[in-house]
Amino acid sequence: MNIAVLYGGTSKEREVSLSTGKGIIQALKQLGHDVIGIDFNPKHLDSIMGKVKDCDLVFIGLHGKQGEDGTVQGLLDLMDIPYVGSGVLASSLAMDKSKAKQIFASHNIPVAKGITFGNHQNVNSVEEKIQEQFKLPIVVKPNQEGSTLGLTIVNQESQIKEAIDLAFTHDFEILVEEFIEGRELTCAVLGSKGEEEALPIIEIIPNSEYYDYESKYSEGGSEHICPAEVDEKLTEQIKQYAVLAHRSLGCETYSRVDFILNNQNEPIILEVNTLPGMTPTSLYPDAAKAINMSYEDMLKEFISLTKV
Ligand code: DAL
Ligand code: MG
Repeated sequence: MNIAVLYGGTSKEREVSLSTGKGIIQALKQLGHDVIGIDFNPKHLDSIMGKVKDCDLVFIGLHGKQGEDGTVQGLLDLMDIPYVGSGVLASSLAMDKSKAKQIFASHNIPVAKGITFGNHQNVNSVEEKIQEQFKLPIVVKPNQEGSTLGLTIVNQESQIKEAIDLAFTHDFEILVEEFIEGRELTCAVLGSKGEEEALPIIEIIPNSEYYDYESKYSEGGSEHICPAEVDEKLTEQIKQYAVLAHRSLGCETYSRVDFILNNQNEPIILEVNTLPGMTPTSLYPDAAKAINMSYEDMLKEFISLTKV
């Protein structure tokens, strides 16, 4: 097949996407496909779309805005070019953590207590509301961002303002949530609509205080335990939540659903990633490995689940 891989891009997760793209391009070539890798810069849309229009399929290896958020998916829909993964609505809903949480909650998937603020609101009044509504520690993060960029775990009142300002440099909306102490778990979902299955759950043990950008992407930055050591009943519940979350947003083919297992052993959903990282330190390929699916086999499966 002639496959175009879109990667890189202009979002703040560009570096991650360069690594994801490299992995995908290499594996697709190994599978014998004719692959064209395209660093996706919307400024050069004409020449990019000129290259893409003759391909049989597009593999989107982008993360973050202008890639994972439904915009590129819409472009490809208009051009009638098939692509792997979720469509416009699911992609943009998953990117909008706050809206996605409302949907998860409406499906009775436990979410963290949180409030969304817009940048039209005065920083002092945001700070005041936070102090009224939350006990520290809290998590302050951009509503639409990935890889924990712009995220602060706030332990002291004096840090609140800085955390708000930082999060607003990434997005016009920020999400403030209670900090949930517990274990970091993730569950990969794979399958066609209605037939999705959860892959073995991974527990992430970061080698720093929490699973931040550094521990996500540096070699040895975190340990992945797969399958996670949680009892059978809990495993089933988390897997059910993962598939339900994927379906509730209308995701397609694959996604990765992140959770915190709090100290009462309740899984709290954090988010669904419609284009999870595929880098050498990423989680989804590790979950696939746990069912004896190599990186190449995983991509083969994604493609076979895509209507071309
Ligand atoms: N946002 C990054 C790429 C991930 O979730 O894997
Ligand atoms: Mg994410």
